[in-house]
Amino acid sequence: MTEARKKITLPYLFDKAARNEPITWLTCYDYPTAYLQEQAGIEMILVGDSLGMTMLGYDSTLPVTMEDMIRHSQAVRRGAPTAFIVGDMPYMSYQPSVESAIRNAGRFMAEASCDAIKLEGGAAMADRIKGIVDSGIPAIGHLGLTPQSVSALGGYKVQGKSAALAKKILDDAKALEKAGAFMILLEMVPDRLCKLITEQAENCLIMSLGSGPEAHGQLLIYHDMFGLYPRFRPKMAKVFGNAGEVILNGLKAYHDDVIGKQFPQPENWFGMKDEEFSDLQAMLNPPAAEAEEKPRKKSKKNKIVKEQE
Ligand code: KIV
Repeated sequence: MTEARKKITLPYLFDKAARNEPITWLTCYDYPTAYLQEQAGIEMILVGDSLGMTMLGYDSTLPVTMEDMIRHSQAVRRGAPTAFIVGDMPYMSYQPSVESAIRNAGRFMAEASCDAIKLEGGAAMADRIKGIVDSGIPAIGHLGLTPQSVSALGGYKVQGKSAALAKKILDDAKALEKAGAFMILLEMVPDRLCKLITEQAENCLIMSLGSGPEAHGQLLIYHDMFGLYPRFRPKMAKVFGNAGEVILNGLKAYHDDVIGKQFPQPENWFGMKDEEFSDLQAMLNPPAAEAEEKPRKKSKKNKIVKEQE
């Protein structure tokens, strides 16, 4: 991107979908990556609770707290001032009640300047979506493989393969749209089901994560795109660059350079003028007579001289 981009807004997203141009969406959890995503022109960023796995090393997303989410969302906003940032509501931040859902959704907006929130679940969560939307907060639903319910779903696998389960997901999408969700993410549902839901959506954008091309846009997990998650790589993730390998090679080279005394080189350290160093030596080793006359006082204040060479 050359020119500074205008803030991505809800009308921008709907206009783009109306022109049949796919919306770009990625997960992101930190400042430097957010900065790069903004430079690359990515329109939407999901500060996903997947950070529990990708950034914090848990086995699932369940231990992630609101404090974790707020901290990471704030960092992402600092790196991506114009992206449409979505805060992902962590486990048990909205399930207990509509009131808890509104309060925690509000925290994403007030404390981290998010543009919207996302939560998992279908018709059973429609009242949470309605409460949040009625409070003036744009809300996104998430159907199909919903990681917070991975135990109930029987693992990380495609959802809605049978006609009956596909119908349930379609009904859930309708319930979320009716409740006011402006967007629904379909994760790992069959492409034809995603197409059907997209065609039937009236005032709601449908996004695909591993659910095929016939949606209003695509989401990917950043760590899967760049080989940065060591435990597994889901089939739906295309690797756009192996940053994990590049970083690993760099780390090995650093290790070898240090033990081989090849690092640091003069350009990697800072020097001191000869006269200053001589003065320092004189201070530390005064002539014997002077040392007797003037016992060294405890230093009062160190003068800090900043030098950039
Ligand atoms: O937390 C997350 O990154 C998500 C994606 C898996 C959609 O919810």
